[in-house]
Amino acid sequence: MVGKTALITGITGQDGYYLSRLLLGKRYQVYGLQQHSPYLPPNEIADGVELRYGDMTDAAGLVRLVAEVHPDEIYNLAAQSDVAASFTIPEYTANVNALGFLRLLEAVRLNNPASRIYQAGTSELFGNAPAPQGEASSGFEPRSPYATSKLFAHHIGVNYRDAYGMFVSNGILFNHESPHRGHVFVTRKVTRGLARIKLGMEDCLYLGNLDARRDWGHARDYVRAQWLILQQPEPGDYVIATGTQRSVRDCVDVAAGALGMSLRWLGEGLDEVAVDEATGRVVVAVDPAFFRPAETHSLVGDASIARAKLGWEPTITFEETIQEMADHDYRLALQEARKHEL
Ligand code: GDD
Repeated sequence: MVGKTALITGITGQDGYYLSRLLLGKRYQVYGLQQHSPYLPPNEIADGVELRYGDMTDAAGLVRLVAEVHPDEIYNLAAQSDVAASFTIPEYTANVNALGFLRLLEAVRLNNPASRIYQAGTSELFGNAPAPQGEASSGFEPRSPYATSKLFAHHIGVNYRDAYGMFVSNGILFNHESPHRGHVFVTRKVTRGLARIKLGMEDCLYLGNLDARRDWGHARDYVRAQWLILQQPEPGDYVIATGTQRSVRDCVDVAAGALGMSLRWLGEGLDEVAVDEATGRVVVAVDPAFFRPAETHSLVGDASIARAKLGWEPTITFEETIQEMADHDYRLALQEARKHEL
């Protein structure tokens, strides 16, 4: 017997991967919104997900989809989610992330106002607000077109809740990673880059700000929070975070350790490098091309409200997450290397 119906926008992303499996396991009928592009890489859609083409920039399509599916729950995970890229494509970022969510809200208001809506908010809303960042303790100081677009989405969600009594909840999620993370994000770039260096497929990994500090969790834990947020009697806004913080440099060290490499850091600023102790070669260096025009320097979340009200807590440590990602990327790199040998 099939239970509730859920619509996930952004089904092809990391969180869509984990959330769809979680919901299918709970016997939901799951619909996934997928962008129509012949160029998208093959994605790992779970068996049982009903795919529908659509786009957050296409209002009529969203109206039709909500009218067709009548979802009990909607998880709005679709976004232009690359913070650095948002400086290059700010208008597109705002169109998808800010207006896209407004279009979805309108589609729901007109067709199926009882749907419960989860909006994927972000720790980037806090920008350089003092740490730790919680729902009430810190103001929002967005530092990028991405963060600013998500700030609009956050507030318009609250507005539709207040104005129309709709069930709209914001999850303010801190960074969350996994082997299904896109290659542009720093943890995946590091595990993939070091795995390829270890196998002799690349020489050096170039990174930007090594001092940036983030609160990194595992996506599997974080999609559970997304689901819990929509099971509450009332809508609300929740910070989801581990409460621990590492620098990008720490991430490199943990990933190197996971791959059986030992690194020594030398120099500072633009000249800082990491040398592989086994080979004496420079394997990590700084490239200013990866600096952002404005940076969020230090994020660490206070998820005490989510812990108390949702009964949520993270179960996978940073070290376990990076180990899983490094193992995965090592296996992929090995397969690729073997294919070239044939
Ligand atoms: N991507 C990237 N590439 N980041 C680098 C690099 C690099 O070569 N070198 C240093 N960094 C630093 C960035 O400057 C940033 O401070 C930090 O590493 C993390 O960058 P990302 O992994 O790209 O993530 P993010 O924190 O900007 O944003 C991610 O997390 C947010 C919060 O959950 C994205 O997933 C956002 O969509 C999400 O909202």
